[in-house]
This record gives sequence, structure tokens and C-alpha cells, in this order.
Amino acid sequence: MKACQEVRIPPVSPQKPQILAVIGQGYVGLPLAMAAVDAGWTVIGVDNFEAKVAQINGGSSPVEDILDAQLQAAITKGFYKATADYSAVSQASVITICVPTPLDDMREPDLTLLRNAATGIAPFVSNETLVVSESTSYPGTLRDIIIPIINSHKPKDSLTVYFASAPERVNPGDPVWNQKNTPRLVGSIDKESQQRAIAFYESICDAAVSVSTPEVAEAAKLLENTFRLVNIALINEFTQLCYASGLNVQEVIDAASSKPYGFMPFRPGVGVGGHCIPVDPLYLTWWARQKGGIAALIESADSINTAMPKYVAERALSMVDQNIKNPKVLILGVAYKTGVGDVRETPVSKLRDYLKSQGANVAWHDPLVPLWEDSNSIDLDWHCDVAILATNQPGMNLEKLITRGVKILDCTNSLIGKAGVSSL
Ligand SMILES: NC(=O)c1ccc[n+]([C@@H]2O[C@H](COP(=O)([O-])OP(=O)(O)OC[C@H]3O[C@@H](n4cnc5c(N)ncnc54)[C@H](O)[C@@H]3O)[C@@H](O)[C@H]2O)c1
Repeated sequence: MKACQEVRIPPVSPQKPQILAVIGQGYVGLPLAMAAVDAGWTVIGVDNFEAKVAQINGGSSPVEDILDAQLQAAITKGFYKATADYSAVSQASVITICVPTPLDDMREPDLTLLRNAATGIAPFVSNETLVVSESTSYPGTLRDIIIPIINSHKPKDSLTVYFASAPERVNPGDPVWNQKNTPRLVGSIDKESQQRAIAFYESICDAAVSVSTPEVAEAAKLLENTFRLVNIALINEFTQLCYASGLNVQEVIDAASSKPYGFMPFRPGVGVGGHCIPVDPLYLTWWARQKGGIAALIESADSINTAMPKYVAERALSMVDQNIKNPKVLILGVAYKTGVGDVRETPVSKLRDYLKSQGANVAWHDPLVPLWEDSNSIDLDWHCDVAILATNQPGMNLEKLITRGVKILDCTNSLIGKAGVSSL
């Protein structure tokens, strides 16, 4: 790996090379690493999953938004390398932490991976390094968890370490908004940290938005995703009311959307999935409880979305001849959203489980997910009594099913008016 790229960006730390270490090479970390390479940084991608490190160094991207060719070019030019060795971060002037922040079995924040990452890098954080947390978490995570871990394990001669929170807002698979053109929130613990963090993000993003504290940045990220959760729940609940009343919810949403202000359309679906929308709002409800409050609206929204797979399953089963005891149900699209192969927290999991609990024989098809929970994507030729379009993935030949006269419950609003299709 080259010492660093030819400097063409303003230095974040004047005495240090323009080397960035990104901890976690997943949906957030790898695109960030590539954006930084594009911007003139030399990047070390640190991931504790050795097989992933080997895959990435072999030039094969594990995420859809990064093409193998882009990754290979960065590696070949010596501007990027992945490693499982935390000691590599000692060369960096900036370290960003991009590891998962999931829920535990009690559906409460699980910061184990974040703590492990902070503990792993701490002994190698050199003097004058900027450490940024990009992982989504509740307000106070940087100040109360990450900073104490790093300060108590950093090298003795690392007298000055700067800290900021800059939650990632990337939307994987989005053809318009990416890490470069999405404004980045930045909140730091002091003025010097903020100057460096803003300089860093201005070097890789079109705009960095300065906020007064890390807690404001952390809370804003949770607000953004909770806004989506609550509005999706509203439309999922409203959909059930409309169906029970014989109204076409899509037509109602289209009608409301003609109002030029004060309304934003959300569409119904099987529920919410992915690492963010089902998870982050529960960081907020947990945080509210720590402060002695209850975020009742958010908890209610979570319950409505969690119950959607059962509602969808019942709607689909009602389309089948009731004399068939074990109907064959084909689920189309198991990833949590279109255009990605990401099945984390996919609501289709609950949909499948509920269908099975009702005696259905369930198979699934997803061109972007060849293997899911020990079963394989099945061919569209599979004979079924009803199909559920859960996620409209590119490359799915739905016309084939429609031509065959298969009954389809469309949860994606993409087959309007087609023969045999019912909309949610
Ligand atoms: N995926 C999204 O759409 C998205 C969008 C915005 C924000 N976020 C947030 O960004 C963070 C990262 O999410 P992601 O989707 O990139 O996760 P991911 O699972 O795709 O990738 C995380 C990577 O971190 C690695 N890792 C885990 N623990 C580690 C450790 N201790 N040291 C080094 N590597 C470690 C894992 O092996 C994995 O490769 C989360 O807080 C998430 O909420 C995600």
C-alpha cells in the first residue's frame, strides 16, 4: 500500500499523512472507504471478519453499491487495503467507526460490537488523531461509551485525540443519494475536534452540516429514521382501514398527494426491515425509558409494523380456494427492500413463519438473494396457489406469473390493474 495519495485535499491534521482508517467494511464502511479514496485519501479498511477481508482484498465487493472494478482499481493503485489487524490504525489521521448497532434479545440497544471496535482500536490511536463514530446510536454514545474506552486504553503519548459523531445517512441501492451528495451531520466534543471533523467531511462530501454537540447529531439520526417508522406504521394501519371499507388505499394516497404542501406519501408494505428503520427507533424508545419517559407513539408504530406480516399472510391465504388444506405460497422478493440483497431484519421472515404456522407450503424467489436461512431461491415455474409480491426486485419476470394466471397479492404497488393481482 502506498504511504498516501498525492495530497490534493486540505489536511485534517497538519502533521499527519492523509490516511483514513474505516472500522467495519459493510454497507456503510466500504462505500465510505471508496468515497474517501475518490476524494484523495489513502484508506485502511479494518474488519474483524477475516473472510470478508480476504474477499475484499481479492477484489470482490460484498456490497451492491460498490462495483468490483472500483474496488480493484483502489487496491491496484495502492490507495486501499483491508485488514483484520487493528494496529494498522496507528498510521491514520482519521478513524471512523462504522460497525453494526443492533438490538439484543430484549429488543434493546446492543453496543457490544461498538464497544469491541473502540476497545480494539484504542491501543493504536496515535496522537492528534480524529476519531469519528458513524454508527447509529442513542444520544450520549460517543461521549459516555466510546470516549471513555479510548481514553483509558490509548497509548500514553497520545495526549490529544479529537472526537466527533457523524451518523451515516446512506440509503443502500439509492440511485440518486449517496455518501457524496447527502449532507453530513457533524457534532464534536470541542471546537478543535469540530474543525477537523468538518474539514474531513468537506473533503469527501458535498456538504457538512455543523451541529453544536455529538448528542444533537446522534439524536437527529434517530429522529430521521423514527419519522419513517411512524409514517410507515400510519399508512400500514390506514391500509387495513381502507381495505375493510372497500377503499383502494393507493388511490387515496395518490389523491392526498395532490396537496402541494404538508403531506408526504408513504406506501404500505409487508413491514419494515434492514439495519435501520426497525432498529433505530427502538434506540429512541430505550433512551426515553432511561430518562424516565415513554415514547408511546413510537412503540405503537413499532407494534403496527411488526403485525403487518400476519395481516399480509391472512390477506394472501384468503385469496386461495379454502378447500386447499396446505396451500402453496410463493413469496417474491425476500430482501427488505428493492435493489439490494440485504435480508437483515426483513419482515418477510415473519411473513414466511406465519404462513407456515397456518399450514402453508412456502417457497421464495429473489434474484438478489440466492441463499436465505438455509434455503435457496426457487424458480418462478414452481406451481403455487398464490404468490405474494413482498419486494419488487429487479430481474424478476413477473409477467411470466401473470401470463400463467397466478393469483398475486402485490404489497409493492407495482402491478396495478394486472389480471389476477390484488393490491394490499
Ligand atoms: N446499512 C445501512 O443502510 C445504514 C445506513 C445508515 C447508517 N447505518 C448504520 O451504520 C452502522 C453500520 O451498519 P452497516 O449496515 O454498514 O453494517 P454491516 O453489517 O453491513 O457492516 C458492518 C461491518 O463491521 C464489521 N465489524 C463488526 N464488529 C467489528 C469490530 N469490532 N471491529 C471491526 N469490524 C467489525 C462486520 O464484520 C461488518 O463487516 C450501523 O450503526 C448502522 O445502523 C447503516
